[in-house]
Amino acid sequence: MRMLTRRLFLASAAMAGWLSSKAALTNTPGALPTARKSGGMGLLDALSERRSTRLYSDRTIDDDILSTLLWCAFGVNRPESGYRTAPSWRSSMETDIYVADAGGVRKFDPVTQSAKSVLAQDIRGKASPQPFIGTAPTVLVYVADRFRMYEASEEEQIQSAHVDAAIIAQNVYLYCASVGLGTCLVGGADKSGLAQILDLPESQIVTFVQPVGYPQAG
Ligand SMILES: Cc1cc2nc3c(=O)[nH]c(=O)nc-3n(C[C@H](O)[C@H](O)[C@H](O)COP(=O)(O)O)c2cc1C
Repeated sequence: MRMLTRRLFLASAAMAGWLSSKAALTNTPGALPTARKSGGMGLLDALSERRSTRLYSDRTIDDDILSTLLWCAFGVNRPESGYRTAPSWRSSMETDIYVADAGGVRKFDPVTQSAKSVLAQDIRGKASPQPFIGTAPTVLVYVADRFRMYEASEEEQIQSAHVDAAIIAQNVYLYCASVGLGTCLVGGADKSGLAQILDLPESQIVTFVQPVGYPQAG
């Protein structure tokens, strides 16, 4: 992995981006509704509302809201460069977001704004030993591909991957606060169990999970 030159890495990343853009022009499987990218609650009001929620109602999250949530989390906000709504270590953009709900698991593709099915299994209850996570209608699983951070030492990869995911999580917190959703960043996930379930290669690690749902009234 360390032998890979930056030039080769960027060339292959650009090719992957080009292929993804081509896919967007055709019939993208798992295409999400267009994400909302302006308006909404003011930032200061959203910060005033931000909090961790651990009691969720049964109400599910529709795809319009999910699409905007994922865009806020780590969507493309500068199409000319492919850069995102959250910063990342040396713009490695190593975090992939998996969306787990009752129907299974989908993987978010920020370039095509789609979420393709990767597993037809409800894994929410297996995401963490903390039972409240499995009660949320949607659980985000943050996975860092350390291959995209090949220039860093293993220690730096792991540390930066957690920092990057936590910034994404704060974007999710703020969007949730702005639309009346509840969420909670969870470090106490069953990371190795999730890696096994998702069949992740060795270079990829689960950093956090983040349940999302409408707060239970009362
Ligand atoms: C890195 C990190 C890991 C966290 N892990 C958990 C967790 O495993 N379980 C949990 O219930 N909350 C977790 N939290 C949420 C904190 O407990 C919560 O942010 C804190 O109690 C403050 O509450 P507030 O978010 O409502 O301000 C975590 C927060 C951070 C930043």
